Amino acid sequence: MNATVAVSPMLLDPYRITRVTEETNDTFTLELSPADGRSRFSYQAGQFNMVYVFGVGEIPISISGDPTVDGVLVHTTRAVGTVTKVMHRMKKGGGLGIRGPYGRPWPMEHAEGADMVIVAGGIGLAPLRPALYHVLSRREKFGKVVLLYGTRSPEDILFRNELELWRSRFDLDVFVTVDHALRPWRGNVGVVTTLIPKAPFDPHSAVAMICGPEVMMRYTALELHKRGVPEYDIFISMERNMECGVGLCGHCQFGPTFVCKDGPVLNYSRVKHLIAKREI
Ligand SMILES: Cc1cc2nc3c(=O)[nH]c(=O)nc-3n(C[C@H](O)[C@H](O)[C@H](O)COP(=O)(O)OP(=O)(O)OC[C@H]3O[C@@H](n4cnc5c(N)ncnc54)[C@H](O)[C@@H]3O)c2cc1C
Ligand code: FES
Repeated sequence: MNATVAVSPMLLDPYRITRVTEETNDTFTLELSPADGRSRFSYQAGQFNMVYVFGVGEIPISISGDPTVDGVLVHTTRAVGTVTKVMHRMKKGGGLGIRGPYGRPWPMEHAEGADMVIVAGGIGLAPLRPALYHVLSRREKFGKVVLLYGTRSPEDILFRNELELWRSRFDLDVFVTVDHALRPWRGNVGVVTTLIPKAPFDPHSAVAMICGPEVMMRYTALELHKRGVPEYDIFISMERNMECGVGLCGHCQFGPTFVCKDGPVLNYSRVKHLIAKREI
């Protein structure tokens, strides 16, 4: 007899924190390994996990690590409220429950052969970092690759060492800008959209991936489209409050879309009329 065991999507896997990195004063990266030391975790760039802090609550967090590296799960989180502030105080050896990976990933195959424009705002670089790792591990499959990254101030820049490394490569163009700089800063000042007109890519053969605050994604998509990138080649990653993470509860509804299962990565042409409206 062929017995099929149904595994509930709501079941948690126990993970242990193996490393904590402070990225900025409110943003931190946790590296996690399965507590049983055996289970393997595979995911695609752009997917997220439901992360459970025991006794506090469960929240969606994107995976920020390298999808080509087995056995280690990486999450970069900004401490903004109840769950994330407790997570921020956790130390190496602490335990978390993980469900996932969930959601639609960045369209990496669709981008093959095209130029790739990655536009990140603030913590939005975390969900996009796996896309960059993916591209760099198969660099020959993509055209020009451009990363445009904007933060509020120089102190908010994530993954500084890695940005330096990426900037030193000949096959990747990295531009960073800040909204304002109080301390000495020799880089660009201005919002991230100001980098788009001169960025070195062919708009008619480019796939764009954007993650950041909704208003930033809206203006970035408009500017990319103005430069000539077709709307159907622009992708954004949406955030909504989530409870189940798997399309059961309706908490993450965004117009006719459930962000947890139809997203978080969505085609801009499909949702542009929704992100123009603040209240949805
Ligand atoms: C698919 C998906 C992926 C996500 N990936 C990441 C990620 O990689 N890293 C990450 O840091 N966050 C990510 N988030 C956002 C994260 O889930 C929330 O920040 C988290 O749920 C907040 O929980 P909390 O209990 O700490 O805050 P709460 O106690 O629920 O909120 C406290 C206060 O903070 C405000 N707040 C809540 N969320 C945010 C926010 N995102 N930014 C600013 N203020 C906020 C609330 O309005 C409230 O006033 C993602 C969300 C989704 C839907
Ligand atoms: S979080 Fe429950 S349907 Fe999306």
